Amino acid sequence: MKRVLTYGTFDLLHYGHIRLLQRAKALGDYLIVALSTDRFNEAEKNKKSYFSYEHRKMMLEAIRYVDEVIPETHWGQKAKDVEKYEIDVFVMGDDWAGKFDGLKTEVNRPLEIVYLSRTPEISTTKIKTELKL
Ligand code: CTP
Repeated sequence: MKRVLTYGTFDLLHYGHIRLLQRAKALGDYLIVALSTDRFNEAEKNKKSYFSYEHRKMMLEAIRYVDEVIPETHWGQKAKDVEKYEIDVFVMGDDWAGKFDGLKTEVNRPLEIVYLSRTPEISTTKIKTELKL
């Protein structure tokens, strides 16, 4: 069974997120989403999500492409996650293109790294700005 891992905040869930999850799942059999906690978002990413971690998690778990949601609490956890969850494919949106290539050499297992193209013209930031949230 091929296991896939991706990361994100997934606030104000939108069709760009769904398309990302759909394509990530298609790269394997089991998709794990590491979801930024509220504290991580505020302390490290300098963003405050509209929906709480628990609500964002609940919505992700209701999506057919998502098999498991785990917390993302700090930037440095990726190599540990890959080993702990026995990940074969590491997926990020292409806003991060090339940034995680080094992970391959940090982990003790073969790892495929895939950057998926973002869906144009939609983002949580855009929704927040246009709705003045
Ligand atoms: N994503 C995507 N297409 C979009 C928006 C997001 O493929 N139009 C992907 C991102 O590349 C990432 C995942 O969805 O892999 C989660 O992204 P996230 O940062 O939570 O969503 P954004 O809408 O980009 O949020 P923000 O505007 O706060 O950066």
